Amino acid sequence: MQPSIPSRIQNDKQRNTGQPGSQRAPARALVGVFETLVNEHRKAAELMQRIAHQSAESRREAWPILRRQLLSHDRAEELEVYAALEGYDGARDILEHHKFDAAELEGSINELDAIDYASEQWVAKLRDIVTSFEDHVRDEENDYFPRMQQLLGDDKARDLHERFVSAQREVIHTLI
Ligand SMILES: [Fe+2]
Ligand SMILES: [Fe+2]
Repeated sequence: MQPSIPSRIQNDKQRNTGQPGSQRAPARALVGVFETLVNEHRKAAELMQRIAHQSAESRREAWPILRRQLLSHDRAEELEVYAALEGYDGARDILEHHKFDAAELEGSINELDAIDYASEQWVAKLRDIVTSFEDHVRDEENDYFPRMQQLLGDDKARDLHERFVSAQREVIHTLI
């Protein structure tokens, strides 16, 4: 029986605020594309933490790399992984929440692009993005991915790995 998530607010209230992986541990390990996505989350989180403590000059060099990682990850995830769940009743809330979060992340990234690297607002905005990203990752790893894998099955989850990787490669070329 899947938990129903009637609204984002209720979901937020129910959510554990601990580290990713600490809440409602999936009964089975994530495989295929879901394992790939979790590994990407880790790499992006590390880069984010590093950038937050760097000089403006280093931020100028590192931000485009992180920006590309975040956007290509989320867009390819949407195009290949979440799209595979279209039509599944049990995934309707997941698809809605993911679209909402993805739009929010892209909006925040655009806002950060418009701020000077040397200003304090830049670091403050990056911290907002880090917080949203951590919330998003917690939802995906503790709730969405286990449910998505359950609905799609392990074989499909493994098939989606290649599709995700090639979609991500294509998305990267379209990013400025
Ligand atoms: Fe993700
Ligand atoms: Fe995502």
